[in-house]
Amino acid sequence: MNDAGRKHVLVAGGSGLVGTRLCQELQRAGYEVSILSRREGTSPEGIPFVLWSSLNQVIPSAYAVINLAGEGIADKRWSPKRKNAILSSRTDTTTRLVEAYREAGDRRPRILVNASAIGIYGPHDGRPIDEKSSIGEGFLADVCRDWEAAADPVTQLGVRLSKVRIGIVLSRKGGALPKMSLPVRFFQGAKLGDGQQGFSWIHIDDLVSILIHCVENDQYQGVLNATSPFPTTNETFTRLLGKQLRRPILPVPAFVTRFALNLLMGEMAEAMLLKGAFVYPKALQGLGFKFKFERPEGALKDLLG
Ligand SMILES: NC(=O)c1ccc[n+]([C@@H]2O[C@H](COP(=O)([O-])OP(=O)(O)OC[C@H]3O[C@@H](n4cnc5c(N)ncnc54)[C@H](OP(=O)(O)O)[C@@H]3O)[C@@H](O)[C@H]2O)c1
Repeated sequence: MNDAGRKHVLVAGGSGLVGTRLCQELQRAGYEVSILSRREGTSPEGIPFVLWSSLNQVIPSAYAVINLAGEGIADKRWSPKRKNAILSSRTDTTTRLVEAYREAGDRRPRILVNASAIGIYGPHDGRPIDEKSSIGEGFLADVCRDWEAAADPVTQLGVRLSKVRIGIVLSRKGGALPKMSLPVRFFQGAKLGDGQQGFSWIHIDDLVSILIHCVENDQYQGVLNATSPFPTTNETFTRLLGKQLRRPILPVPAFVTRFALNLLMGEMAEAMLLKGAFVYPKALQGLGFKFKFERPEGALKDLLG
């Protein structure tokens, strides 16, 4: 609690796509918000940045930390060096947070909301996945497993930990949707591979709402899949995108897109685009969370209409 009686929420990686929106909503909900960042100054929205080197000084003032920090997964081709950066930017920052909670003693925040991703389940066939499903194989599953494991020790300090396994975030400001929309707008839209791979998505507004619920509601703890209740296939989502943008979708044979994506993106193509999973938010539904955007049609209309 600060001098004005407002609770302080520290958002690590709060300068990114999800964090920018989250910080605005936290402010609107009456919280004092700061962004833990590698930069100094303030965000374009006027939210103060706190350098990671000042973490120990700032943490006793925080009521909760929401940790979104990590190198962009799809920003660059996955070389061994890039893979290491993707992993260590998540495990190192999370470990630093947990250490800061430890060092703050009785003045530590009571809540840690740590991002993770549905990549933890690995690529799957058509079987539905929920929070009880086993951890999968591959680079993304390994990253998410280690990321979550880095956060787990905080529970030994009596801190409530939410591990939010985020699906493909739909936003008009960045991430997957603008990338998927671009070829469709230019009459080049096509399903990827055979198009039957799962596409487990979430509207950014619902994700932000889930993260704020994690701060406010004691029941929002442990593993939570942050995906809409209606995951779809790549083919259906691409078709709906075409419908929303009033563009045709080309009947490109599976081997053509598979070949092109593998050539362009290497290992990332299979892990992120050509394979997928049907992930369900069973835990959130059990908690009674109400999604504003359950169906892809509604989300696309809101974001692109
Ligand atoms: N967007 C999605 O579809 C999606 C899906 C599943 C999971 N997630 C996860 O959710 C989190 C937030 O997603 P997002 O789309 O908002 O990500 P984003 O736009 O890439 O933002 C992540 C933030 O992490 C910080 N960061 C980057 N590299 C870092 C490093 N080496 N050390 C410390 N901090 C670093 C950056 O903040 P500063 O530059 O201010 O330090 C950046 O603003 C990410 O961890 C992502 O993996 C996202």
